[in-house]
Amino acid sequence: MNKRMILAVLLISLSAKAQKTEKTGKEIFESRCAKCHGKDGTKGLWGATNLKGSQVGDNERIATISNGRRIMPSWKSRLTDKEIKRVADYVKTLKS
Ligand code: HEC
Repeated sequence: MNKRMILAVLLISLSAKAQKTEKTGKEIFESRCAKCHGKDGTKGLWGATNLKGSQVGDNERIATISNGRRIMPSWKSRLTDKEIKRVADYVKTLKS
């Protein structure tokens, strides 16, 4: 293999790896949020909002997840903007 091919193979395997580690909103929610909110959003540990009944708009939902609120921790240093968006979209699907 010449150098250019080696580089191409390297890039392809790196991007495949990046895709594999990308988590869905559901996976993020179940690993990071469910301990307080519950898998279905209704657990309410330490006063965690029942997400099934949450009435906030998209911007406020994203701001709360990014910055935290009272007992709820801030996630912006632990999740990427994309992950926050994805988990926020997942929270919306919990609403009944
Ligand atoms: C340590 C427990 C805890 C964890 C972990 C947690 N939350 Fe919360 N969450 C809370 C509490 C408590 C509140 C209510 C804050 C308040 O007092 O206003 C809340 C509020 C919210 C709200 C606001 C809902 C509304 O209608 O105002 C959203 C949205 C939310 N959480 C999403 C998430 C997401 C998404 C995650 C995971 C990335 C998460 N939470 C992780 C405890 C937690």
